[in-house]
Amino acid sequence: MHKVRIGLVGAGGISRAHINGYLKCPEKAIICAVADIRKEYAEATAAQVGGAEVYGDWRELLEKADVDAVDICLPHDLHAPVAVAAAERGKHILVEKVMARTLEECDAMIAAAERARVKLMVCHDRRYHTVFARIKEIVDSGAIGRLLCLRLDHNQDVNMAARMDGVGGWAFFRERLGGGAILSCLVHQFDLIRWYAGDVAQVGAMTLTLPDRMEGETVGVVPLRFRSGALGDTVINWFIRSRSLTPENPAGSLWGELVWLSGTDGNLHNFGGIHILRHGAQPQRFEHVPVEVVPGHVGAVAHFADCIREDRDPLTNGREGRAALEVALAAYRSEGTGRFIDLPLEVERPV
Ligand SMILES: NC(=O)c1ccc[n+]([C@@H]2O[C@H](COP(=O)([O-])OP(=O)(O)OC[C@H]3O[C@@H](n4cnc5c(N)ncnc54)[C@H](O)[C@@H]3O)[C@@H](O)[C@H]2O)c1
Repeated sequence: MHKVRIGLVGAGGISRAHINGYLKCPEKAIICAVADIRKEYAEATAAQVGGAEVYGDWRELLEKADVDAVDICLPHDLHAPVAVAAAERGKHILVEKVMARTLEECDAMIAAAERARVKLMVCHDRRYHTVFARIKEIVDSGAIGRLLCLRLDHNQDVNMAARMDGVGGWAFFRERLGGGAILSCLVHQFDLIRWYAGDVAQVGAMTLTLPDRMEGETVGVVPLRFRSGALGDTVINWFIRSRSLTPENPAGSLWGELVWLSGTDGNLHNFGGIHILRHGAQPQRFEHVPVEVVPGHVGAVAHFADCIREDRDPLTNGREGRAALEVALAAYRSEGTGRFIDLPLEVERPV
């Protein structure tokens, strides 16, 4: 099949990771059109990819641009409207996480894609990151046995108030973001932990909100029980203010996404690279598993193009994106009621 012709919608922060990915697989996909209300962003992107049509309005891109697919890198409140409109015009869809703000929006996106017989992929890029993908292979190989306890967290310094006047300011508002750091970011860990351990049965949550940073929560602790019986502990901390001392990131804030898995036959963690300790191994010490680090978006956009070219269902399809969001929404319900919440959540307006 020909190269997939991509219309990039939203040329802000995360679009750079998508552009980098497409530039690394020019034999599979090419960005032909870019839309952003800040037209100068779209123009800069067009120049970076060696020329593309530029639009200020995503509707115009959908009407006029000769593209096979859209790649949606927009604020969360725009994911569902753009995805549904794209499906109605027969375009395949890659949408950044979080898939949407509500299960109803997710269901509308899934139904529109099914009606139009187009691919719908949610950019849960961690599954395509070589380190997290290698962990999945190790778990599936049985090397640490049956999973009993999974701990995943995400640490970053994110102050949405500081972005209020520029790109990214939308994320300050609960209505546009759909929640806070749990829905926006811990959803990465919900997606990964479901990939490792299967469906979630029960969700709890406690949150901490710092109103001068954003309307939604900045810190959240979300315990999980899986259908398998395993337990999970997920934490988002968007208030890591210490500066990193690593040579690669001397001025940046400390950013870490830690995984600690414990199974019947061993343990695995990713502090300073993947390490495994198998029960009974002699000597009893963690062994390093070398992995070449390739960012998730590189694999994600290539996978999206492959799925279109080879007519395959994406690994992180609409149902997987919806399931990760469902955990986040259950966490909010738990915080609101002070109770553990059983999944699945009921949908108020089924499509
Ligand atoms: N996978 C990751 O690690 C990761 C990291 C950051 C953000 N994200 C996700 O990426 C998405 C975008 O976040 P971001 O940080 O890039 O936001 P951003 O604010 O930096 O970029 C959004 C862009 O959309 C444009 N835009 C806004 N309204 C528009 C409209 N109506 N029509 C056309 N363009 C419009 C803005 O001008 C801006 O350039 C969100 O879903 C976010 O959760 C993912």
